[in-house]
Amino acid sequence: MPRPIILDNLGEIKRIDKSDMLSFCVEASKHYGEAAKLAKTLQIDYPKPKTIIVAGMGGSAIGGELLKDWTRDRITTPIEVCRDYSLPAYADKKTLVFVVSYSGETEESLSVFLDALKRKCMIVCISSSGKLREFAEKLGVPSLLVPSGMAPRATLPYLFMPLPIALEKLHLVSDVSSEVSETIKVLKLVSDENVPGKPLNGNFSKTLASAVDGTVPVVYGYGIYRAAAQRFKTQFNENSKVPAKWEYFPELNHNEIVGWENAKELAEGFSLIFIRDPDESIEIQRRIEITKKLVHDEGLRVFEVWCKGKSVLARMCSVICVGDFASVYLAVLRGVDPTPVRTINVLKESLAKTGIKDAVIRELERSGEK
Ligand code: F6R
Repeated sequence: MPRPIILDNLGEIKRIDKSDMLSFCVEASKHYGEAAKLAKTLQIDYPKPKTIIVAGMGGSAIGGELLKDWTRDRITTPIEVCRDYSLPAYADKKTLVFVVSYSGETEESLSVFLDALKRKCMIVCISSSGKLREFAEKLGVPSLLVPSGMAPRATLPYLFMPLPIALEKLHLVSDVSSEVSETIKVLKLVSDENVPGKPLNGNFSKTLASAVDGTVPVVYGYGIYRAAAQRFKTQFNENSKVPAKWEYFPELNHNEIVGWENAKELAEGFSLIFIRDPDESIEIQRRIEITKKLVHDEGLRVFEVWCKGKSVLARMCSVICVGDFASVYLAVLRGVDPTPVRTINVLKESLAKTGIKDAVIRELERSGEK
């Protein structure tokens, strides 16, 4: 029996996808609706910031990247994503810092929270529990509690939606509700087309997963699909447990493409996935077409994922939804449970023994006593 047939065996999918990661993809539209409702309850009373930083790691940071793409052509306030222990030098009391950590226990995020407190930044915390939640409450920092018990990357709607909605509350962007409504409709459409019950033939995510199976997926985005490409890559890593890469146009035309020159048998080990938009600019369209031909001639397999929807949010979320489905289907094909991230957990346990996180927590405790 060829491997892809597994993707049409619902019993087998359920057996492998033990924690039902697929249900988060299937119910993406419902989660975006609930996340937007929840985000509206966020209480913030800050003046307009000069700069914005979204601090977090992994599944808690990608929402910040999406915010950057989403706001790129609509606000003048610079936005940076900080995946580190400390904030960039410019961060001060005029900087709005979102500290996002799903578990509320991530060492880097707690450290950056401490740094933001020291610099008297305007802080908003987003978490489901943990020390971040505890200290935000204790120190009177505005925070949003998101539903617990999921894998951080599966809660993207809850970690991302509060960001644009907070900007709306601060009058940095106009009403986002119509964009959110369209996104919910588009996501329903995308998930209906990619649900496990929809056979391989006619199910784009299943087809993509079986096409890239056995290779390293490389995802190319651009503009509003820069973070979407990164999300594709990290979902292949964490759900499918495969190495993956991402790049974006036009930068990739100035280095990455040379790497495919004469790659010969190495090229067989990669699959290139281009994120496309029927409304992409002529500059990008030409680049993609020329690049596709060049890499195809070098022997690489090339695939395209087309966005759906009109608004920026809907278009970004539509491609992310396809990537999320494809990464889970690839896990099923490989016979691996998409949910557990053993290596991340082992690493976090080993790091905890170094005492660095405990030192940050002690400092946070002291700051609460002052
Ligand atoms: C796990 C995942 C990871 C975590 C990261 C940070 O699903 O996606 O990338 O998001 O290790 O942990 P949190 O999100 O708890 O701060």
